[in-house]
Amino acid sequence: MTPTPSLLSQDDPQAVRDVLRDYYGKHLQSSADLSQKACCTDDIQARFRPIMSALPDEVVARHYGCGCPVPLDDLEGLTALDLGSGAGVDVFVLSKLVGPSGHVHGVDMTAEQLEVARRNAPVVAERFGFARPNVTFHEGYIETCDAIADASIDLVISDCVVNLSPRKDLVLGAIRRVLKEGGEFYISDIVADRRVPERIANDPEMIAECLGGALYEHDFMDAIKDAGFLDPRVVERKVLQTEALGIPIVFSSVTVRAQKFSRPLDRRCEDYGQTATYLGTFSGCPARYVYDDHHVFERGRPTPVCRNTARMLSETRLAKGFQVSAPLQHFGLFDCSPRPGGALLAASFQLANPAPQAAPAKAGGCC
Ligand SMILES: C[S@@+](CC[C@H](N)C(=O)[O-])C[C@H]1O[C@@H](n2cnc3c(N)ncnc32)[C@H](O)[C@@H]1O
Repeated sequence: MTPTPSLLSQDDPQAVRDVLRDYYGKHLQSSADLSQKACCTDDIQARFRPIMSALPDEVVARHYGCGCPVPLDDLEGLTALDLGSGAGVDVFVLSKLVGPSGHVHGVDMTAEQLEVARRNAPVVAERFGFARPNVTFHEGYIETCDAIADASIDLVISDCVVNLSPRKDLVLGAIRRVLKEGGEFYISDIVADRRVPERIANDPEMIAECLGGALYEHDFMDAIKDAGFLDPRVVERKVLQTEALGIPIVFSSVTVRAQKFSRPLDRRCEDYGQTATYLGTFSGCPARYVYDDHHVFERGRPTPVCRNTARMLSETRLAKGFQVSAPLQHFGLFDCSPRPGGALLAASFQLANPAPQAAPAKAGGCC
């Protein structure tokens, strides 16, 4: 094992990679070896229990994720990419959801993680009843994604990895490069309620355990916008810990989604008098579809939306689940701010609610 430096600078990407490879390749054998509570949530296990139960134990044991970066509409036939795919848990969950007509790529830089993922790919395919694996694991860096062609991916996911990169700008640029027009990224990662103090940010173990490199949440959202994704939306949020190394700081897991549009979105939510109606067609969401922490669409209910949301629902794969009215005229700003309790709403897809009667929503707000 390479000796771990006592301090690590984010300005030295190669040193960060060396420490991470060592940590994920040699130090950790399962999530029980983690010292912090950040990259070991059981969200994906809880939400996809039947699929998870088909995965080999050694894959599940090496799951170091912090959220559930899996959209809840129908994903069949999609080409997906998981950044920092590790031992493959999220790739295999997506493999089942995209089915034999789809394909899932994983990119990771750690040989030991890739070895577990690749060795288990045929086992998982057989358990899913597929004639052959619909997954490919590539050795590489998420900052470049060299093995992935331009504009070839419908859905990019990532589970607790972007925080580990000292060059998050490059990672976001690579996501934009590989996505097709209207394609989406849907990632779970760690953010902080303030800029992370140097003592945590330069500590090798804190970096490896997904805290040291975490961004202040507003810097994270700005970095996403700087990469050309002008209106990222938070789907879910969960506080993970409220201190590190004795320093008070709130680290949360957030799941964020945004799509690639060549024609830029509005910088603010603008009102063009549009509504969106969920048709109830996504198989896991018969009664309502939760888009983000302030947009829950009940089946059959026309709901006022800003022009950006209208585009997210009509110029992407989600179009098959929505009827979106055309822009009428500009009526000024649209109040699209998250409302209190939004995160609770975002969890409401888990409730089996009966479909509501069709009735127009209150005018003037989606929130
Ligand atoms: C916290 S684990 C998450 C693994 C996986 N997403 C999961 O949920 O189990 C981080 C993974 O990202 C990989 N990784 C970290 N930085 C990377 C980089 N710059 N390029 C490629 N892989 C990276 C590590 O090798 C490790 O497998």
